[in-house]
Amino acid sequence: MKLDDKTILVTGGTGSFGHCFTEYVLEHYNPKKIIVYSRDEYKQYTMANEKVYREHADKMRFFIGDVRDGARMERAMEGVDYVIHAAALKQVPACEYNPDEAIKTNVNGAQNVINAALNTGVKRVVALSTDKAVNPVNLYGATKMVSDKLFIAANAYAGNKDINFSIVRYGNVAGSRGSIIPLFKSLIEKGEKELPVTDYRMTRFWISLPEGVELVLKALEEAKGGETFISKIPSFNVKDLAEAMCPGIATREIGIRPGEKLDEIMVTVEDAPFTYEFDKHFIVYPQVTFNDRQKPDPRGKRVPDGFSYDSGNNTEWMSVEDIKARLHEAVDH
Ligand SMILES: NC(=O)c1ccc[n+]([C@@H]2O[C@H](COP(=O)([O-])OP(=O)(O)OC[C@H]3O[C@@H](n4cnc5c(N)ncnc54)[C@H](OP(=O)(O)O)[C@@H]3O)[C@@H](O)[C@H]2O)c1
Repeated sequence: MKLDDKTILVTGGTGSFGHCFTEYVLEHYNPKKIIVYSRDEYKQYTMANEKVYREHADKMRFFIGDVRDGARMERAMEGVDYVIHAAALKQVPACEYNPDEAIKTNVNGAQNVINAALNTGVKRVVALSTDKAVNPVNLYGATKMVSDKLFIAANAYAGNKDINFSIVRYGNVAGSRGSIIPLFKSLIEKGEKELPVTDYRMTRFWISLPEGVELVLKALEEAKGGETFISKIPSFNVKDLAEAMCPGIATREIGIRPGEKLDEIMVTVEDAPFTYEFDKHFIVYPQVTFNDRQKPDPRGKRVPDGFSYDSGNNTEWMSVEDIKARLHEAVDH
């Protein structure tokens, strides 16, 4: 994607994804401007003072704003070419306990991003989704599912304008806050002799933040509107993770937590008729299309009926040694 001379706005730009994306773009392209849009001035101040952003201060803009505030979103999107929507409430228990807040940010916020993009000159919008939006069993997943549907339907309003909306879906990022790797790490550092594993059958995908960023750049470049881009990535068993992080350590099963699944699902059997496989990713195409541009890319191969893609039925698996070799990617973020 040619990001040179482009103005890019990242909602939630001070978050883990926002940091990684912004740094990547500054290092690999020569954008006109990157606008970080988020609420907390301290996070923005801290980010602005990091070396990489100080070195590119002429290209960085920090906009205080809430995705719940449609007028502010519209103001921020004036002159913007591309929008990456990463702002979200994403902790499962917090969304469960504060459902109305989760809806305001993840659903109403998504609609505000769409309206603002349609009302200004924005050309591409890529929204971040999660495996939890697939057959959701918790409110976080349900709000992200609604958000996905809003972005897919937004293509109906594009008309003749050069704008499209697409989605990038991935699972827990290795090392992300509140996930299993930082938990195991802190327990090991405290000298615990036994690590808690929710269920010995539990599997997860392994994706690093840079891999997530690359998929977003692919979506920016290739989307025609309404696609969901999903990386092909390896799976691991959570028990093997404990062994990789502390060889020989004992584990105990503590039972699955509310709102959790044994495996992460990315593509369901119901999605299969609309899913195409590429070398390094899948694309789920929209079931309802609104213009002639929304056709499957001929380079892809439709997956067979009955196909599904989850961390339990993956064909690519990480051994304990493979996990050890990639633990350095799980930096604290
Ligand atoms: N991390 C993962 O493992 C993972 C996995 C799959 C999908 N995702 C998705 O990826 C996206 C980014 O996740 P992340 O890990 O980067 O999250 P994060 O580190 O928690 O960052 C969230 C960002 O959103 C901002 N934000 C929150 N509420 C906002 C609001 N109402 N208005 C404006 N900004 C708001 C936060 O800044 P302020 O608090 O200052 O506003 C922060 O910059 C999310 O959509 C998430 O659902 C993440």
